[in-house]
Amino acid sequence: MRIPRKLEHVHHALQLGQSGDQGFSDIKLIPNCLPETSLRLISLHTQIGELKLSSPIVINAMTGGAAETEEINRELAIAARECGLAMAVGSQMSAIKNKEVAPSYQIVRKINPKGIIFGNLGSEATLEQAELAAEMIQADGLQIHLNVMQELIMPEGDRDFTGMLERIHIIVQHLQIPVIVKEVGFGMSREGAAALMQAGVTVIDVGGFGGTNFAAIENARRDVQMNWLNDWGCKTSIALLEVMDAIPIRSANSKAISSDLKLAIIGSGGIRGSLEACKALTLGASAVGVAGAFLRVLREQGTAALLVHIDEMHQQLKLLMTALGASTIEKLWNTPIVITGDTAAWCGARGID
Ligand code: FNR
Repeated sequence: MRIPRKLEHVHHALQLGQSGDQGFSDIKLIPNCLPETSLRLISLHTQIGELKLSSPIVINAMTGGAAETEEINRELAIAARECGLAMAVGSQMSAIKNKEVAPSYQIVRKINPKGIIFGNLGSEATLEQAELAAEMIQADGLQIHLNVMQELIMPEGDRDFTGMLERIHIIVQHLQIPVIVKEVGFGMSREGAAALMQAGVTVIDVGGFGGTNFAAIENARRDVQMNWLNDWGCKTSIALLEVMDAIPIRSANSKAISSDLKLAIIGSGGIRGSLEACKALTLGASAVGVAGAFLRVLREQGTAALLVHIDEMHQQLKLLMTALGASTIEKLWNTPIVITGDTAAWCGARGID
């Protein structure tokens, strides 16, 4: 019997690992010798759209749809509950097409009845499917993923990308919960973010290159490989700056971002530890998404180790925020940084200041 696609993704994600070239080495934090804050004053609370989160770390969409993926979702949900993290399930389209696999997603709500949980569908989804996905897990928000290059590399993938924005617009207008539009590791551009904002999207996960690589994963699943596409994408540091540049208020007033900003940004793609998370937040993200790195800890060391890992990330993030003199995530946005290397060259070429 053929291994379900979802399990192949888990297997190849672990096998291929992450390059770590998500661009954060180009971002230099500037030491603050007079931080005027205290470790005990640091708050990790944040907000994405109308959702209030006690941690800026989100367990990003991964799986569901088969027995072994139910086990992964159960353990991730335990980590989310114990550490107070929001969590997304993997694409629910399989459960919309076949109700029998719905429990592999619903386990997340069962384990974590009070937690913040996001549903997940692709941009081919209709409003009705979005409503079914939300209802299936009593979701607090719905992620819609964009993964054009992954689909094109998959032999069985989509080839028609018309009508995506219109469908997203309809879902955003009518769904009763917030919608997060996310990339899966190819990175979002300024133009893409601007179009999404025009369509009413208020939360974007930039899903940059440099972490889990879905071009490489799909190539590993193919007989005839297209490995020349394995470096397709825009690094996470760059994707964050691209999406920030789509926010009109920012170009008008540089780094002074107001808290009534209409777009909340989630930084994701290759985030493995607290320093990378801190840099993403400093670049303007309200939260960070972690997928592959948490999956690795869970599968190689178990749930208890994942809880310790997340707790360490929280403690280290507080330490970094103390050193930077930023007692809140919003204050991190206004700490000075230096942008070097490829990220600086890209921003220069694109006129992003
Ligand atoms: C994913 N990702 C993903 N995203 C999504 O929107 N729907 C999905 O069903 C999946 N499935 C999935 C399976 C596995 C095994 C992994 C590792 C990832 C993508 C994920 O949410 C994230 O955008 C990327 O993995 C980039 O982040 P990391 O892994 O570099 O932290």
